[in-house]
This record gives sequence, C-alpha cells and structure tokens, in this order.
Amino acid sequence: MKIEIERLSKSYQKIDKSEHFVLKDITFQMNKGDFVIVLGESGCGKTTLLNMIAGFEKPTSGKILANGKEIVGAHPSRSILFQQPALIPWLTVEENVAYGCKIRGDVDNLDYRVIQFLEIMGLIGYSKEKPNELSMGMAHRTCLARALVGLPEVLLLDEPFAALDTFTQSHIREELVNLWLSEKFSALFVTHDIDEAIFLGNKIVLLGGEPAGIQEIFEINDQYPRDMASSSFKKIRDDILNRFKMSYFAKRILV
Ligand SMILES: Nc1ncnc2c1ncn2[C@@H]1O[C@H](COP(=O)(O)OP(=O)(O)O)[C@@H](O)[C@H]1O
Ligand SMILES: [Mg+2]
Repeated sequence: MKIEIERLSKSYQKIDKSEHFVLKDITFQMNKGDFVIVLGESGCGKTTLLNMIAGFEKPTSGKILANGKEIVGAHPSRSILFQQPALIPWLTVEENVAYGCKIRGDVDNLDYRVIQFLEIMGLIGYSKEKPNELSMGMAHRTCLARALVGLPEVLLLDEPFAALDTFTQSHIREELVNLWLSEKFSALFVTHDIDEAIFLGNKIVLLGGEPAGIQEIFEINDQYPRDMASSSFKKIRDDILNRFKMSYFAKRILV
C-alpha cells in the first residue's frame, strides 16, 4: 500500500480558544514495502501523526491518501501496534491473537494463520496462557502476532518497544525486520531512538521544530541485518544528530 501525506497540519484548540499547531506542512510518501521511520523528540507530534494515518483523528488541513484514496477512518488494511501491550486479560494468547479478525468476520483459515504467527513469534508453547502469565517481551510478541494475523498491508507502530529492556528490545527488533522481509508488509514506525531508527528503516523522516515539520528525509540502503558498530551506521547517526541539533537550536533561538 502506498501512503501519501500531503501538506498535513494538525492543531488543537487551547482553553483560551487560540489554535495550537502541533504539526505543520508535513509531506512525505511511503511506498509499498517501505520501512519508514518517523523520528523526533518526545512531544513533537509523532503519535498525533500516526493516529491520523490510522484514521483515528482528522487532519486540520492537508490530506492523507492510501492507494490514492483519502483516509476517512480506521481500516483493517492498516494495523496498529501501541506502546503498551494492550491484551484482553481473560482471553488466552491464541484467543487474543484471533480476536480482532473474529469480530470482523475475517475467519478464513484463521486458526492456521494464528498458529503460523504464534510459531513465528516463538509463542506456540504459550498459546493457552493468559496475558498475566507472560513476560513483557512475550506480551509484545503476542501483540505483534495479533497485529499481523489479519494480513494488513501497512503496520503502524507507535514506539512499541520503548518499555522493554535492552536485550529484549534488540531481539524483538531483529524479529520485526525478519518478519517484514518475509511477510512484505509496509511499516511505519514512530520512535525517538536514533539507533532503533537506523537499525530498522529504509527511510527516516526527521521531525523537529515547533510546530513540528520535516527537517530532513534520510534514505538508508544498507543491507539487513544492520550492524550498529559499522562505519556507515555511525555516519548516518552523526548526520541525523547534526541535523537534529540544528533544528533544536533554531527552536531555542526562536523562543
Ligand atoms: N487531543 C489533544 N488535545 C490537545 N493537545 C493534544 C491532543 N493530542 C496531542 N496533543 C498535543 O500534541 C503534542 C504532541 O503530542 P504527541 O503526538 O503525543 O507527541 P509524541 O508522540 O511525539 O510524544 C503535545 O504537545 C500534546 O499535548
Ligand atoms: Mg507518542
């Protein structure tokens, strides 16, 4: 699925009725099969942007197109993974994974798909467990299986691994890359973590400023899996940091 974001702005009304712009004039594209990262500091509007792409919120101005059609609401072709693993506590792992598809009536081969994704995520031995019996890493894997079992065209991820420890983070990021390479969905991943961005993305959209706009778009063509210690990884990290510092200081001087 191709997602086009055209001159998108989002504002909220303050208590004094004045308009507070969070995002201003955002334009970029996600082509089929891309792994796009939206990178920016906390509070810059990443979740707001993702919610609009998911169809949960409407832009104040500008457009978001999915395969040429304006997004007007949520759709199962765009699946979302949140920061907190929100599982239904009284359902088992396999029931949680199947739940969304079941209530939508998307039940063709569902049992097989559930088993397939539980297997990929290393959860097959835990399929009858309840969420409170899982570690944080397993709970996140269950959410990832649930997000993918409906075979979405686009997976939207909102800092999904931020609360995990470094070891689990690094495993689950590798698993996500492998899944993306094998399942061929498009991914749009929001994060404030530069290394995570370079490890995962083939395109990094750097947000900054107030209201936030695009500072630069970095294309990364390095092979996966990426080596965080490699010279090209370090070079991209430096480039992003330098660009970020420029926008950070510009923001401080303006206020
Ligand atoms: N419903 C809302 N009403 C008013 N302000 C909001 C609302 N949602 C988000 N904001 C504001 O938008 C800004 C960006 O928030 P958010 O998108 O959550 O940032 P990020 O995900 O990058 O941390 C914040 O200043 C937040 O207060
Ligand atoms: Mg957020």
